[in-house]
Amino acid sequence: MSQTGWTLKALPEMNEQQFSLWRELLETRTGIYVTEQRKSFLQSSLMQRMREVSCDNYQEYYERIVHDPMGNIEWAKLVDRLTVQETRFYRDPAAFEYVGKYIQAHQAKFTKKNPLDIWSVGCSSGEEVYTLAMLAHEKLADEKKDCFIVTGTDISVPVLNKARQGVFSQRRLVTLPELYRNQYFKQNDDEQFNVVSDIKKNTCFAQVNILQLDKVAKSTRHIIYCQNVLIYFRHWRRQEILNHLVDRLAPGGLLLIGMGEMLDWQHPDLTPVKGEQITAFIKRV
Ligand SMILES: C[S@@+](CC[C@H](N)C(=O)[O-])C[C@H]1O[C@@H](n2cnc3c(N)ncnc32)[C@H](O)[C@@H]1O
Repeated sequence: MSQTGWTLKALPEMNEQQFSLWRELLETRTGIYVTEQRKSFLQSSLMQRMREVSCDNYQEYYERIVHDPMGNIEWAKLVDRLTVQETRFYRDPAAFEYVGKYIQAHQAKFTKKNPLDIWSVGCSSGEEVYTLAMLAHEKLADEKKDCFIVTGTDISVPVLNKARQGVFSQRRLVTLPELYRNQYFKQNDDEQFNVVSDIKKNTCFAQVNILQLDKVAKSTRHIIYCQNVLIYFRHWRRQEILNHLVDRLAPGGLLLIGMGEMLDWQHPDLTPVKGEQITAFIKRV
């Protein structure tokens, strides 16, 4: 059958056994737990990739991922389809305002040798990283404008490549305060907007699977920002990940997660931030 004819052919529904197999693989490798309600998301994302590689059998494609010597290369492409990458600039204004206040209040200790070290966990295409970098640049005093670094990490390599470019359409910028839009972006010849170098040079991106946080250095980050990632994991795993994040926070550091992403969670080394519309914690000194 011609490629065009093949792509038009509908793939069959996944049966229960296939669903369990794929669900388990995804959870073991990424932590993401697909509920029954999200089965259609798993199926349509798989179908999309299977069409591209001309495979019409879930079992065969599974075998290819798990047992083929090139399976890891295919997996890297597939995982990009199986993760939800929705994001936007200044997504949670209350959380970013609090981060701004925190930076201002603690800036005395940040220097070129000991820069403010911010980590965006599950950063998607970079909007969160650049928002944090713009905030740091705005809030730090003139002589400290360069004393910060924001690192964005994600499991998906394609999304990190996009983040690294720092190029966004005008439509993507609408959620940003005007001050940031005007100050930190430059329109290019393609009518896209480039993040200016003052911001970009203080950011970096790396592939880190949140299930392998033991590979990340401990006690170094002043701010860890982890929003809209834990919601895809089971409760016990969220707890485990958060414990790892706490170990990676410097004494006095700030941990910010999404509202309602971890209800009733406490950690002996953390003090919850009260009275704000956010879920945040400060690590005890
Ligand atoms: C919905 S986006 C959230 C983006 C951003 N944090 C925000 O709030 O706008 C979730 C991101 O988490 C990433 N992700 C999912 N599982 C991951 C894992 N095991 N390790 C690292 N990143 C992961 C996805 O690739 C995706 O880019």
